[in-house]
Amino acid sequence: MSNMTENKLNQTDRLLEVKNLRTTFRTISGEVKAVRGTSFYVNEGESIGIVGESGCGKSVSMLSVLHLLDDNAKMEADEIMFHGKDISKISTREMRKLNGHEIGMIFQDPMTSLNPVFTIEQQIRDPLMRHLGYTKEQARERALEMLQVVGIPSPESRLKQYPHELSGGLRQRVMIAIAMCCNPRLLIADEPTTALDVTVQAQILDLMRKMKDDSKTAVIMISHDLGVISSLCSRVIVMYGGLIVEEGLIDDLFYRTAHPYTAGLLASIPKGDGEKLVPINGTPPDLVNPPKGCPFAARCRYAMKLCEECMPPRYDLDSHHYCHCWLHHPSVEAKKGKVKLV
Ligand SMILES: Nc1ncnc2c1ncn2[C@@H]1O[C@H](COP(=O)(O)OP(=O)(O)O)[C@@H](O)[C@H]1O
Ligand SMILES: [Mg+2]
Repeated sequence: MSNMTENKLNQTDRLLEVKNLRTTFRTISGEVKAVRGTSFYVNEGESIGIVGESGCGKSVSMLSVLHLLDDNAKMEADEIMFHGKDISKISTREMRKLNGHEIGMIFQDPMTSLNPVFTIEQQIRDPLMRHLGYTKEQARERALEMLQVVGIPSPESRLKQYPHELSGGLRQRVMIAIAMCCNPRLLIADEPTTALDVTVQAQILDLMRKMKDDSKTAVIMISHDLGVISSLCSRVIVMYGGLIVEEGLIDDLFYRTAHPYTAGLLASIPKGDGEKLVPINGTPPDLVNPPKGCPFAARCRYAMKLCEECMPPRYDLDSHHYCHCWLHHPSVEAKKGKVKLV
């Protein structure tokens, strides 16, 4: 394939491309720099993961793309292309047309996103009637079908119930049914299994995997747990302190780990063999006054003077694999040799 055809193909493949996203919050303690210039993309039908400790900017990144930020937030981006259109500056009204139709969302706690005063049936029917012009009867049919797809037993009677009458696992299945009922191009799942116990968590992940394989929906899966991400995604973005520190295919991250923070996350995944987990010592940076150099320097066992002083640039290691870490600077490698992180 010539380079030009390849480029063209790659570009038409893009479903979402975010360029230089910056989101801040006004607070009494100052301006919180929650997302500090991140760029990422998802191709049609692709599943990517965003991983990182609590507070690193995963949710805020997605809420920024969806224009769902609180009033004290300010979001800027050079561009947010979704399906060929820049959505970085579109109105709330236009965004509402995309949300729940072209983009489906699942959040950690279904109780906050399900409406307590409406039945399950009303909540699945609503986007179908609003976005796809279904009649009430057609929407009811589809609601019933969706509950079957997500594996909810006796769906007829479940349709009449209210969210508080369902268990956490069932509520999360209902959320998936709502998110997927309009066949969205993109599904954003923010910690969808974090609040569930391990068995239910595995069932929900199985369900998501099956639905992703059956539909052509692209998925952005957010989790603090690299184990959860690796079961569903082919490419992973690692965030730390409002920045992307490493991105690569699953195998790149596991076997060719390039950033010490990613290595730390890997060491903290339970392996089930009783081996002791190694937590990452220290705390994430203060995002009101973020350090001027690498955000991880204060916790990094390999940190050099340079790391505290200067923000590390991007080092491309492979076509899908890059990181921001001074250890990959040629003169550091020449002096110390390649640092083995795994
Ligand atoms: N409404 C808000 N007001 C002030 N700060 C916020 C607000 N929402 C999020 N933040 C801050 O933004 C940072 C990123 O948060 P978030 O994206 O939710 O983290 P996570 O990676 O756990 O999803 C955190 O420091 C958080 O405290
Ligand atoms: Mg979050």
